[in-house]
Amino acid sequence: MPYERIEIEKAEIERQIALCRKLKERFISQGRKNMLAFVDTYGCQQNESDSERLRGYLAEMGCSFTSDEAEADIIVINTCAVREHAEMRILGNVGALNHTKKAKPEQIICVCGCMVQQQHMSDKVKHSYPIVSLCFGPHELWRFPELLERYLVKKKRVFATAPHEGCVTEGEPRVRDRGVKAWISIMYGCNNFCSYCIVPYVRGRERSRRPEAIVEEARELIAAGYKDITLLGQNVNSYGKDLDCGVDFSELLKMVNAIPGKFVIRFMTSHPKDATEKLFKTMAECEKCSHHIHLPVQSGNDRVLKAMNRGYSSADYLEKVRIAREYMSDLVITTDMIVGFPGETNEEFEDTLRLVETVEYDSMFTFIYSRREGTVAAKLPDPMTRQEKQLNFDKLLETANALSLKKHREYVGKSVEVLIDGYTEGEEYPITSRTKGGRLVHLKGDASLVGEFKKVKITDSTTWALFGELEE
Ligand code: SAH
Ligand code: SF4
Ligand code: F3S
Repeated sequence: MPYERIEIEKAEIERQIALCRKLKERFISQGRKNMLAFVDTYGCQQNESDSERLRGYLAEMGCSFTSDEAEADIIVINTCAVREHAEMRILGNVGALNHTKKAKPEQIICVCGCMVQQQHMSDKVKHSYPIVSLCFGPHELWRFPELLERYLVKKKRVFATAPHEGCVTEGEPRVRDRGVKAWISIMYGCNNFCSYCIVPYVRGRERSRRPEAIVEEARELIAAGYKDITLLGQNVNSYGKDLDCGVDFSELLKMVNAIPGKFVIRFMTSHPKDATEKLFKTMAECEKCSHHIHLPVQSGNDRVLKAMNRGYSSADYLEKVRIAREYMSDLVITTDMIVGFPGETNEEFEDTLRLVETVEYDSMFTFIYSRREGTVAAKLPDPMTRQEKQLNFDKLLETANALSLKKHREYVGKSVEVLIDGYTEGEEYPITSRTKGGRLVHLKGDASLVGEFKKVKITDSTTWALFGELEE
C-alpha cells in the first residue's frame, strides 16, 4: 500500500501546547508547584531528538528537569528496540522504578518510543509493569500532553501504540542541551526493510520535512550560537523523495551551507545504495560540510548482503568509497557491521575482514546479530553458536582497533582546524574538540575556548582519540 503523507496541522500542535498550560495550572492547584521531570533516552540520535520534544512539552507544563528518578514527579523513558540487549536493559530499569514509585506514589511513569511500538512489548509493559501509567509509540509523541491529560483526568492507564505509518509535525516546543552541538531531524522512518532490522516496523514510512522548515530551524540554531549541526535521518540520501519539490539531500546540504556564519554541517546516516556521486561532489564543494561519511556496510560478503536486503554488493560499495575519496582525499569513513547474521559462515565473515582492511575505516560500530521478532531474518536458520560469533566479533574488533590506531597515528605532526565543543574541570586535557571529519581531539586550555574554531597541532594519538596543542 502506498504511504499517504500526513502532516499534522499547526493548530493541533498549538492545542497540545495549550493543554500543557492547562496541566501546569492543574499541578499548581494541587499544590505541585515545582514539578520535576526526568527524561531517560535510549537508542539513536533520532531518539535524542525526540526527547528534546518531550522536554519541550514538559517545560511548557512547568516542569524543571532532574536526572534523579527518586525525586522526579514525572519519568519518561524513551526506548529503543534495535537489539535485544537494549530492550533487556530498559525493562530492568523500568522494573527498578518499583522502589521510587513506592516511596512516591503520585509519581507518573511513562514509557514511550520504539520498543513499545511493538505489540508484544506494549503488552508486556501492560501486564508485567503496572507502575507504568502511560505508554505511547513514536507516532503519538506529538500528542503526549493530550495522553497525559487523559491519564490524569480518567485515572486509567493509557496505551497509545497502535500500528501507524507515521506523520510529520512542525512547531513543537523543544528543550535542547546547551553547548555547541545541535541535531535537526530532516526526515523520519525508513523504507528499506533490511531483513534484520526492526526500525521500519516501529518508525513507519519514510517522510521528509519541508526544506524551508529545516533551513529555518538551522538559521535559528546558528543565531542561538550552535556551531555544529547534524542533519538526522535513518537514510538521509532518500531525503525529499516524498516531497516532489525538487530538493534532494544534496540540494538541502547546499541550502544549509548557504546560511551565513561559521559552523560545521554533519549528517547521518547514509545508506550506501543511495549515496551518489552528486552527494560526494556536494560534500566537497560545501565549505561547511564535514568531510565525514558514516556509510554502514554491515557485511563484506555478497550472499550475506543479499540476504540482508541491503541493495548493493561489496564491489558497488568499494566503488562508492573510491569515488568519495576522489572528491575528498581527507574523507573520514566510518561504518556499522553486523557479525553472525543467520547463516553467515566463517568464510563469509572473512570477506568482511577483507573489506574492512581494504576500506581502512577510521572507526566502526560492531554488533552481534540480534534476532528481532517480526523481521524476515528472524525466520532464517541460525546454526552458529554464540561463542563462535563472539570469536568473529573479537577478530573484527581487533582489526578495527588496529586500523583506528594506524589512522590516528597519521595525524601526528599535522596541523588541523578543530571546533572546541567541551570542557571537563580537573582533567589533564580538559578540552574536547572535533576535527572537521569528526575525530576527537583532546587539548589543554580553559573553558572560555568552548565554541571556538582553532588551529591545533596533533602531538599524540591512541586508538580512540588524538591529542594536540593550540597553535596560536
Ligand atoms: N539507518 C541506519 C542504521 C540504523 S540502526 C543504516 O541503515 O545505516 C544502527 C545499526 O544497528 C545498523 O547499522 C546495524 O549495524 C545495527 N543493527 C540494526 N539491527 C540490528 C540487529 N537486529 N542486530 C544487530 N545489529 C543491528
Ligand atoms: Fe534499519 Fe536498514 Fe532502515 Fe537502516 S536502512 S534503519 S538498517 S532497515
Ligand atoms: Fe533504536 Fe528506534 Fe533509534 S529502534 S536505534 S531508537 S530508531
